[in-house]
Amino acid sequence: MKNYDNVTIFDHPLIQHKIAILRNERTSTKEFRELVEEITTLMTYEALRDVPTVEVEVKTPLEVCEQKMVLDNSVAVVPILRAGLGMVNGIHTLFPSARVGHIGLYRDEETLEPKSYYCKLPCGIENKLVLVVDPMLATGGSACDAIDSLKKAGCKDIRLMSIIGAPEGVSRVAENHPDVKIYVSTLDRCLNDNAYILPGLGDAGDRLFGTK
Ligand code: PRP
Ligand code: URA
Repeated sequence: MKNYDNVTIFDHPLIQHKIAILRNERTSTKEFRELVEEITTLMTYEALRDVPTVEVEVKTPLEVCEQKMVLDNSVAVVPILRAGLGMVNGIHTLFPSARVGHIGLYRDEETLEPKSYYCKLPCGIENKLVLVVDPMLATGGSACDAIDSLKKAGCKDIRLMSIIGAPEGVSRVAENHPDVKIYVSTLDRCLNDNAYILPGLGDAGDRLFGTK
């Protein structure tokens, strides 16, 4: 894959360790859900290193000092349903006040293109740093659709976080949305004929919710 200025691929050993367990077909639904949350928290720490802050005055037992705090209400999370839901708690661990919007998309099994079935975004989202989350970035169709909807809603600072990316999907989003920062924990080899990521982890929604 080409190098893109707006793409970050994590190679942190703690994240890679958790992804090894996540991929394993024998990992239980409970452990899968916990790992998705933990990996998301680690990714968020890095993806939001420039989150807006304000200076506040704090009185310690010894003196008064200036200290930075994260600006309240500055972050919104938008999971792409269903599988993106599994990442929301991982962000709330760090940003308990983050508002949550939902974008419902599923891939048509014939065309592999995303079909939209739901969109509900928090008021004022256009002024927030918006984290779009979906564990799997395969063809990139779902992510591009979600980002298009957010741009139509006026959002200007949009970041995409996916745990596993395929080169095809990462390139598609990076080229269609050069202003969007893309974070993936690992870049896999390719897509199969059904647009599943190889080696991947299978169907993220089914593994998170135990539907198969
Ligand atoms: C999966 C996944 C992404 C999408 C990625 O969802 O969670 O949303 O596929 O594929 P793409 O990059 O080719 O668009 P799916 O359509 O299976 O729906 P689900 O989460 O409801 O199972
Ligand atoms: N969606 C998934 O859940 N897994 C893939 O490999 C591709 C799309």
